[in-house]
Order: sequence, then C-alpha cells, then structure tokens
Amino acid sequence: MDIGGTKVAAGVVDRAGRVRARARSETPDRSKSPKAVEDTITAVVDELRRSYEVAAVGVGAAGFVDEAGATVLFAPHLAWRGEPLRDRLRERLGLTVVLDNDANAAAWAEYRLGSARGRRDVLCVTLGTGIGGALIVGGALYRGRYGTAGEFGHMVVMPGGHRCECGNRGCWEQYASGNALVREARELARTDSPVARQLLDAVAGDPDQVTGPLVTRLALAGDPAAAELLDDVGTWLGRGLANLAAAFDPALFVVGGGVSDAGDLLLGPARLAFRRALTGRGYRPEASIVRASFGNEAGLVGAAILAREAALGAAG
Ligand code: BGC
Ligand code: NA
Ligand code: ZN
Repeated sequence: MDIGGTKVAAGVVDRAGRVRARARSETPDRSKSPKAVEDTITAVVDELRRSYEVAAVGVGAAGFVDEAGATVLFAPHLAWRGEPLRDRLRERLGLTVVLDNDANAAAWAEYRLGSARGRRDVLCVTLGTGIGGALIVGGALYRGRYGTAGEFGHMVVMPGGHRCECGNRGCWEQYASGNALVREARELARTDSPVARQLLDAVAGDPDQVTGPLVTRLALAGDPAAAELLDDVGTWLGRGLANLAAAFDPALFVVGGGVSDAGDLLLGPARLAFRRALTGRGYRPEASIVRASFGNEAGLVGAAILAREAALGAAG
C-alpha cells in the first residue's frame, strides 16, 4: 500500500513485483482523525482480499516512520502525530503488517527490481503531494538514528519562501512537488493570460480544477505553457539534486512519484539545472538522473517487497 497525502493506493503484488490487482481511494482530509485513514486502508485491503489470498501487508506511509517501523512520528500531509499505525493495522486486518516511509519503499522497489537494480549507492526522490526521499548506501536503506533520514523535501531552498505544511517556509517540496506544480499552474490560469489558453480551456475556465496530471497531459500534447510549468519544477528538482550530490555523492538518482510521468519534460530541465549547480562540475564523475521504472507505483510495489522480505524471508 502507498498512503499519500492525496491517495490511498493498494495492489496485490506477486513475487516478480507485478501488480496483479489494484484498489484505491482518496485520502481522508488532514482535518479528519487518524482513524478515518485506517478505515480507508482497511476497506481497500478488504476489497482486494475478496479475490486474493493476501499473506502480508506492506505499508509505505507519507511520513516520518520511527526506527522500529511501528509509529508514524509526524506526517506533514496527514493527521498522524505519534501514531502507532503498524499495530493498529495489524489488529484490524489480522495480518502481518510491515511499515516504512513511502519514499523508502519506492527506493526499495527500484533497487530490487527497477532502475537501480545492482547499484549500491542510490538516492531516490518521489515527487507527489510533497517530495519523498530515500538513501541507499552500500545496498541498504540508510535510516539515520531515529528512522527519519531522507526527509529531503524539507530542506530549505528559499529562506522566507512559500509556507510548507510542516510549518516552515521555503522547503524544497514547495518548489519541486506535484503540489508546487498545481499551485503554479492555477496561479498562471488565474492570470487569464493568453499563454494560459489551453490550460483554461481544459478546465472550462475554472482554475481550481487544474491538476498535476492535466498539466502533464497538456505538456506531452505540446502546450508550451504546461511544458514551461514542468520546466520550472524540473529546474528546482535539479538544483536540489545538486545539493544532495554535494552531500552524498550517489552514482544514481531515481525520480518517482506522479510528476515523473512527465518523463524528459521534467528530467531534461532537471539534468541541465543539476549540471549547472553541481559543485566541482567538470572535475568529478556525475551521477545520472533517471525515472523510476515502476513510476508512481514504486511505493506500493516496494512496500510489498519489504513485507515479503521481512515476513516471509527472501525466499517467500
Ligand atoms: C513527508 C515525507 C514523505 C513525502 C512524500 C513529505 O512531506 O515529510 O515523509 O515521504 O512527503 O510523500
Ligand atoms: Na524517506
Ligand atoms: Zn517542509
């Protein structure tokens, strides 16, 4: 399962990492109790259990998961504050539940079966509601002392910038996430500028109906304004990745999450900005920046792989 700020997505994942069946639901509003999210998760799992024999449930959650994999300490986009999510779900589902951060799960899918297969030092970022991050060092997920390493989305890239749902200002995820893309696209639509023509036509003139997938669709179909919006997000992405290269020196960056559906319209500008900002450029090997091969499903596939490995052993 992948529990994000916008969607609860679940899939029945087989040994080969193939998604056999899917179920999804909207994430209850952040103002609702954590129980509302658990109700949604339970309903989605029950739906899939009607047709499949489920051995264990892996949950990738959009928040700070503690080192025991039991508690969501904090989640900027959800109502979890010190929430003992793993055991709550175990009780309600009567199944083994393995909990990890959503981006950690995505990175694990890419490392085991995707774009980062066989690569030992990899950094993964997912662009969705926020920016998720994960670090694979020497073939293992690096978790930090308390489990919360890799919260790259909350590095400040613009002091005094846009307010983040974490409470601070200027976090990277305010500039390079799906939410950032939607905010900028709606702002552009509201100007009623001629360049926003196709964007506005697609939503019958209502800027509030603009979504990230819509911007991506228009950009892929050749709308220059939509492509510029993705270019801006990609540029912020590349700058942030250059900072992360300064800190971690990975060989590979894997980019996932819904915004990665834009492919090279996002990653082209990201690569340019990365090279432009990389410290020591021209005198050091440069990491490559690739798309997650599981796309926006990396989180749920990775959560399933983590659950399989933890609960059933590698042979499960
Ligand atoms: C949260 C992370 C999460 C990411 C992507 C961020 O705002 O702090 O824990 O991985 O969003 O969902
Ligand atoms: Na993470
Ligand atoms: Zn933040």
